Amino acid sequence: MSEIESMKQQLAGLEAEALAAIAEAKDLAGLEALRVRYLGKKGGLTEVLKGVGKLPVDQRPLIGQVVNATKHTLGEAFENAIAHLQADVDAARIEAERVDVSLPGRSPAQGSRHPVQMGLDELTAIFVQMGFSVAEGPEIEDEFHNFDALNIPPEHPARAMHDTFFIQGDHDATRLLRTHTSPVQIRAMLTAGEPPLAVVAPGRVYRCDHDMTHSPMFHQLEVFKVDRDVSMAHLKGVLKHFLSTYFGRDLPIRLRPSYFPFTEPSAEVDIGCVLCSGRGCRVCKQTGWIEVLGSGMIHPNVLKAVDVDPDGWSGFAFGLGVERMVMLKYGIPDLRLFFENDVRFLRRIGR
Ligand code: PHE
Repeated sequence: MSEIESMKQQLAGLEAEALAAIAEAKDLAGLEALRVRYLGKKGGLTEVLKGVGKLPVDQRPLIGQVVNATKHTLGEAFENAIAHLQADVDAARIEAERVDVSLPGRSPAQGSRHPVQMGLDELTAIFVQMGFSVAEGPEIEDEFHNFDALNIPPEHPARAMHDTFFIQGDHDATRLLRTHTSPVQIRAMLTAGEPPLAVVAPGRVYRCDHDMTHSPMFHQLEVFKVDRDVSMAHLKGVLKHFLSTYFGRDLPIRLRPSYFPFTEPSAEVDIGCVLCSGRGCRVCKQTGWIEVLGSGMIHPNVLKAVDVDPDGWSGFAFGLGVERMVMLKYGIPDLRLFFENDVRFLRRIGR
């Protein structure tokens, strides 16, 4: 066989072998390896070309044509195979990254105010709307603000009734956790210097008892106003407006004579039962009324304690339990729910 015939055969064999390998290739990396093997600088085709030099000069162009044809054929085969495999890769990727636009969206986790905070905000806002300003006092108090200035002298039985947490320490003065928000009356009046003033004071208070209906920490709202000629009528008007606004309907209220050392006269305030509208139910113990807060006219001794002349000024004050008000409005059956931090409860009530 002539040299040129043998070369042609070699090329044909190479082409057939390469085409078969290309057809078998499973992925792009495999194809690239084949391309290097057959068309690369040290590849099969180059090997064959090295023999061209041995041919007579007039035969060289002939073999050149064959080599070019082979190159072209293989080049096309590679291109087609690459396009095919690339299409597979693309299809797989599109499938993997497919977004099902018919699925419902994932809503981001959203927090809410704690029901107690919600109650504090709702209650405070009603008084702010009436022109009261917001004040706060420290949770760690002294006996002067929590008791003495509020007309509760050391031997007064009311002092024992308060179940006070005392704080041990090397202070000169006794420290305690405030048992009510009434000390803010004293602080606000001392800060203001002189009346008139109208204040709403929300905050935490502490008492040393713990059962179904009492928590050692709870929240109160203190509301008071001192001005010329403030009377029980003002107290009742503010209470009526406040309670009807908070519960969202015109509620009957009633004042029952009571006793607090820091008010005179004092009154316990009831609302018509929010559950049965007065017909009688479990919540109002069949009375039709629910006790919601303590109130009264600020005692002359309290005014004197902050250097306000009780002959020139008078005031009313009331204090209420925030958890209790939230329970009544939202139908919460158990005080402990507020402090267990069960998110199902917090989500249902909190906004
Ligand atoms: N401080 C009283 C309590 O905690 C409530 C109260 C406040 C009563 C103001 C009358 C006037 O029980």
